[in-house]
Amino acid sequence: DWSMKNFIEEATEEIRKMVGDELVIGAVSGGVDSTVAAVLMKKAIGDQFQAVFVNNGVLRKDEDTEVQIRMRDKCGVHLTYVDASEEFLAMLAGVTEPETKRKIIGNTFIEIFEREAKASGAKFLLQGTLYPDVIESVSHKGPSATIKTHHNVGGLPEKMNLKLVEPLRLLFKDEVRTLGLILGIEEDSIYRHPFPGPGLSIRILGEITNERLSVLKEADSIFIHELREAGLYRQIGQAFAVLLPCKAVGVMGDFRTYEEVIALRAVETTDYMTAHWFNLPYDLLQRVSTRIVNEIRGVNRVTYDITSKPPGTIEWE
Ligand code: XMP
Repeated sequence: DWSMKNFIEEATEEIRKMVGDELVIGAVSGGVDSTVAAVLMKKAIGDQFQAVFVNNGVLRKDEDTEVQIRMRDKCGVHLTYVDASEEFLAMLAGVTEPETKRKIIGNTFIEIFEREAKASGAKFLLQGTLYPDVIESVSHKGPSATIKTHHNVGGLPEKMNLKLVEPLRLLFKDEVRTLGLILGIEEDSIYRHPFPGPGLSIRILGEITNERLSVLKEADSIFIHELREAGLYRQIGQAFAVLLPCKAVGVMGDFRTYEEVIALRAVETTDYMTAHWFNLPYDLLQRVSTRIVNEIRGVNRVTYDITSKPPGTIEWE
C-alpha cells in the first residue's frame, strides 16, 4: 500500500521533529488504536516511547499476559506493566450502579497513570485519537454521551502538563487497521472487537466479586473461542457474555440447583451507534450453551440477547 507507506514515513518524521530527545508516555489497552499508535511510536523513536499497561482487574481471561507478550515481545515496545487489579476491585466492591462503576474505573485509572507519567519524566503524551474522535469532540458530544459516559483517557493532558502526540488524528478506523498490518502487528489484534474501558465491570450486572468475575471470564472465553472456530468472529461487530444479576432454578441429576445466568450478546454494526443482533446458527448456540453450563461451576442457564440498538444499547449497562 503505497500511500500508507508514505504516511508512515511522514508521520515518523513529524514525531521525531516534534519530540526531539524528550520522552513520550502513552497508555496501551490492547485495543487496535492504542496498539497501532504505540508501534508507530516505537518505529519513530524507539525506547524514547514508553507504554504503560494498567491491569484494572476487569480485563478478559488471559488478557493481562497476552497484551504484555504482544507489546513487549512481539512488537518490542518499552512497556511498564502496572497490576492495579486489587486496587480497582477494592474500589468496586459493593458497587452496582453502572455510572458509578464507570467513574471509579476512569478516576482510578487517571490516578495511576498520572503517577507513572510523573515518575517517567515524560514531556509528551501519546493519544490514539482518530479522525472521527476529532470531529466528535469539535461538534460537541454525540447523543450516546448523555446515555452513558464513555471514558477513554479523556481529561488526562490538562492536569498533567504534557504535550499531546496524536499520530492517528487524520485516519479512519479502516486506515488504522491497514497501517497496523503494514507495521507487522498480528491480525488477531488488528481485527479485535472493541472492548469498553470499564471492561467486565459493566458486564457483571449487580455486584462484582472475584467468583462472579471468574465465572464471566470463562463464559466469555468459551463464547469467543467458539465464534472464532466457526469462522464468524470477523463478521460480528462485537460479541461478549454478560453475567445477569439474578439466579435461576435448574435441575442437575436428582438435585435442584439455584445458580447464575449468562446472557450472550453478538451484534452486527458498522458504527456502533446502531446495531442489529446477529443471527447466530442454532448449533453454535447449542454448543456454547452446553459448554458454559457443563464447564463452569455455578451457572445453570444461558440466554441469547435478540435486541437491536436502538432500543437496546450494545452493552447491558
Ligand atoms: P453502547 O452500549 O452505548 O456501546 O451501545 C457502544 C460502544 O461503546 C462501547 N462502550 C464503552 N466504551 N467506555 C468505553 O470505552 C465505556 O464506558 C463504554 N460503554 C460502552 C461499547 O462496548 C460499544 O462498543
